[in-house]
Amino acid sequence: MSVAEKFLSMEYGPAPEDPREALVWLDQHGRKLGHFIGGSFRPPAEGVYFDTLDPSTGERLAAVAQGSPADIDAAVKAARGALAEWQSLTPHARARYLYALARQVQKHSRRLAVLETMDNGKPIRESRDLDIPLVARHFYHHAGWAQLLPQEFPGYVACGVVGQIIPWNFPLLMLAWKIAPALATGNTVVLKPAEFTPLTALAFAEICQEVGLPAGVVNIVTGDGSTGEALVKHPDVDKIAFTGSTEVGRAIRKATAQSHKKISLELGGKSPFIIFEDADLDSAVEGLVDGIWLNQGQVCCAGSRLLMQESVAETLIGKVRERMSLLRVGPPLDKAIDIGAIVARVQLERIQRLVDQGVAEGATCWQPPSLAMPSRGLFFPPTLLSNVHPTSTVAQQEIFGPVLAAMTFRTPREAVELANNTVYGLAASVWSESINVALHVAAKLKAGVVWVNSTNLFDAACGFGGYKESGYGREGGREGLFEYLEPEWFKRAPRLETKPKAIDQPREQGIDSAAPPIDRTVKLYIDGKQARPDSGYSFEVRAADGRLLGEAPLGNRKDIRNAVEAARKADGWAKTTAHNRAQVLYYVGENLSQRAEEIAGRLAAVVGKEQAGAEVRQGIERIFSYAAWADKYDGAVHNPPFLGDARDCDGKYGHCDSIGNLSAHHRRLVSSL
Ligand code: NAI
Repeated sequence: MSVAEKFLSMEYGPAPEDPREALVWLDQHGRKLGHFIGGSFRPPAEGVYFDTLDPSTGERLAAVAQGSPADIDAAVKAARGALAEWQSLTPHARARYLYALARQVQKHSRRLAVLETMDNGKPIRESRDLDIPLVARHFYHHAGWAQLLPQEFPGYVACGVVGQIIPWNFPLLMLAWKIAPALATGNTVVLKPAEFTPLTALAFAEICQEVGLPAGVVNIVTGDGSTGEALVKHPDVDKIAFTGSTEVGRAIRKATAQSHKKISLELGGKSPFIIFEDADLDSAVEGLVDGIWLNQGQVCCAGSRLLMQESVAETLIGKVRERMSLLRVGPPLDKAIDIGAIVARVQLERIQRLVDQGVAEGATCWQPPSLAMPSRGLFFPPTLLSNVHPTSTVAQQEIFGPVLAAMTFRTPREAVELANNTVYGLAASVWSESINVALHVAAKLKAGVVWVNSTNLFDAACGFGGYKESGYGREGGREGLFEYLEPEWFKRAPRLETKPKAIDQPREQGIDSAAPPIDRTVKLYIDGKQARPDSGYSFEVRAADGRLLGEAPLGNRKDIRNAVEAARKADGWAKTTAHNRAQVLYYVGENLSQRAEEIAGRLAAVVGKEQAGAEVRQGIERIFSYAAWADKYDGAVHNPPFLGDARDCDGKYGHCDSIGNLSAHHRRLVSSL
């Protein structure tokens, strides 16, 4: 038998990871873990615990505390109490703590990876090679920012006490994305892990003790959605950072409206994976495996919509099926496994429900026919839905499972339309060997991150976040730090006076005062034209002393609709060059300046002469600021250092040896417009 024949006949044998150390850690805690508040573990105020399970076996791993409002209150008090001391440290001292956290994570990396896999069900290959190395990388990166903070962010201060709520798909990595920038910028933290996966957050709490982090700087309260809700509503929290479903994101936005709380939301996605006919199809298929089957598809930026150029669709579907047949589903602690367990039964049922609905709406469902599935545990086979209609449920709703919905397009323009045709805007992958096609399409996609000839490349230096219902705010890099900072003046700014200043003089008489003034009808301004209100009503505008200043048109639903339509139609503004936008803004400032006295005069009747003058001056200055910024935002291509180097692979996307090195030759294009 030749070496080549031997190679082809080789079977994968099981290669199980040893879970002993993680189990010893659980036993040391008596398989019962409390909250981490004020630097030590303590039982929940109401004494209630719930079990966290291994989804691949159904076995109970430990009991964890169910957080109540009293626990949240204690944690927020601990965080508030620790704030002054934490902020009094030098940036260098805070940098040392973050550096120590990174080091300690590395020292215990295998235990953390095993614990993560047991609690979440993800393949050990992923937790070991992707999640935990990125956790350490985030703390290193932010140790750097802590050191550089005063020189790089002059005039900015920390928000204060930060509440953070994270999901179950990347438990420790999401913790790092949240805690590292918060600490680097001088905030203290109360974090609530997801109820399905609390264990690595509690292991991290112990790491905080080991590095001697001052008590109260990091507090971890476990529990379900009601614990998260108590954290969101706590009046002494200055900022909420959330990652999870769009539905809960919406609820958090409502709950924090009209409060001083700053928020950032990283929500769901339905990211397009666009393959053009000139793409390297084999590489694209390998990218797709990473894009949709990483972490069982439970990834917010999963490439869950495959958009194929019609001319290569059939070939591509054949290649995808062939590759799917080689995926191995099974016990996630086995190092030879590609697809592990789904995190919880409720999620498994949700995936099945959505697939059934897709089929009912006309899609064709394909799963590898000879795939071996484990006899117990929560597993779902890799699934391909083709003939999917762009408006069907499976093309629009986040499935959050190993399910790919495939559609076709003919032209780049159609690809862009299909890609942008969802409520989400988190990420996108574009595959083409033509740099013109790739960059032309990438710039038109409404997504926080666009990868070209690559996918799922993450790094602490690269801001990540969404558009539209995928949320707002960025995590990682310089842009991510602004989520945890506020301009210093903002903290010192006096509250707005509720009582307007007195009016000094009545309106001057004009030169034709002998006759009554000619009536002046103020109208709405929509689509570049003056428009009478559809309602046919006007309302009175009065000065602070009650004098009638005039009447303004009362807009109704139809006027708003017309105005929104006009704004949507005016895409010429987005298409014009940044230089032109800057020029127009400067011109608006120039015109305002020419009419400054007239406008200040009108305002004076409402807010007083002094304030009116100041408002107009500040208005001009602000317009100049945005004119200045208009041509400074040019997007950026990040060069993440995490990608390994070219020696690790032979130049083909799929021939690399581990997920960390998968894309050594591909660079992420981050469109941060
Ligand atoms: P979820 O959004 O309910 O849970 C995420 C976190 O929010 C958990 O820590 C949870 O305890 C907390 N939470 C729940 N309700 C809350 C509330 N009212 N106030 C404050 N915190 C609250 O996500 P779930 O139910 O676990 O998953 C449902 C779907 O959400 C998934 O199928 C998937 O489509 C999406 N999802 C998206 C994620 C992403 O990374 N974008 C992550 C997790 C889920």
